Amino acid sequence: EKGTYPHYMMKEIEEQPFVVRKIMSEYSDEDGNMFMDPGIVQEVRGCDKLYIIACGTSYHAGLIGKQFFEKISGKPTEVIIASEFIYNMPLLTKKPLFMFISQSGETADCRAVLVKVKEMGHRTLTLTNVKGSTLSREADNTLLLHAGPEIAVASTKAYTAQITVLSILAALVNNNKNINIFKELSKIAYIMETLCDDKEKYKELANKYLVNSRNCFYIGRSMDYFLCLEASLKLKEISYIQTEGFAAGELKHGTIALIEKGTPVIAVITQENINLNTRSNIKEVKARGAATMVISMRKISQETDQIIIDDANELLSPLATIIPAQYLAYYAALLKGCDIDKPRNLAKSVTVE
Ligand code: M6R
Repeated sequence: EKGTYPHYMMKEIEEQPFVVRKIMSEYSDEDGNMFMDPGIVQEVRGCDKLYIIACGTSYHAGLIGKQFFEKISGKPTEVIIASEFIYNMPLLTKKPLFMFISQSGETADCRAVLVKVKEMGHRTLTLTNVKGSTLSREADNTLLLHAGPEIAVASTKAYTAQITVLSILAALVNNNKNINIFKELSKIAYIMETLCDDKEKYKELANKYLVNSRNCFYIGRSMDYFLCLEASLKLKEISYIQTEGFAAGELKHGTIALIEKGTPVIAVITQENINLNTRSNIKEVKARGAATMVISMRKISQETDQIIIDDANELLSPLATIIPAQYLAYYAALLKGCDIDKPRNLAKSVTVE
């Protein structure tokens, strides 16, 4: 039940800090140390490459997961859109492990790949929010997201749950050596809570920048780029504003031609090493009349940035940055009078290929 919340989407956005904490407790042993089924951890450790298969928001979580597996666990990882896999199957390594990320566990595009790779004799693991779902039943192993039921069509808490579970798995694969994930996750859960307290500001920004716009761009580099893909999916699917997420460096290779006076461009900057380059992209679009908004991390923020996020681990930053982006989408849709929880033409689980 959505209780006192006007929409499921708002309820689910606000549940996110609690979901991160719930996942930490679900994946702890009696002493509070990180724990997951050792068989699963061992299998990820033992494969020579991880192939992540997913669609939509789950695919975007997979892109973040790849960074965790490669940077934290040193495990080569490829992320593939499920519906493309059949046509463009990558050359597989000798000992691949297929990981399916799906909130519902029912997505037909993912199932088609699961059936195919099982026929080929490969090992499979499903990350899902729904116990007993098709993808969970048919894969060799399952990790649950523990996000609680997600009702709104626009996925919010499943995305942050997927990222959280992926970060824990990546840390365990590496014997928790380089990074204290639980400490970082606790910090970020607190930051997520403080971001949820700033709703009125996101509403004003949505009103000022988005409501009267036909289109919008999210730009960022590195982790922020992957975040931009998800942020733009959220905005377009519920407010119907045509929104694209771009690698900031790609702008001048084409997309900048679309910038007109007043086009909203939302730049995301959470990492020190990309700060200056993304800032210069902001100048480029501003010079062409764009209405720019910046979401930045405190340590590299500038006074004029509209949304500032307290410093968090850079790899985990999408867990925090997505919150203002989800609210911007929510309020843009609300102010335009759209059906937030049930956007047109979309279904919560997509059971046809
Ligand atoms: O249940 P799944 O995670 O497999 O669903 C995948 C996509 O259909 C889903 O994430 C979709 O993109 C959402 N509506 C995005 O908000």
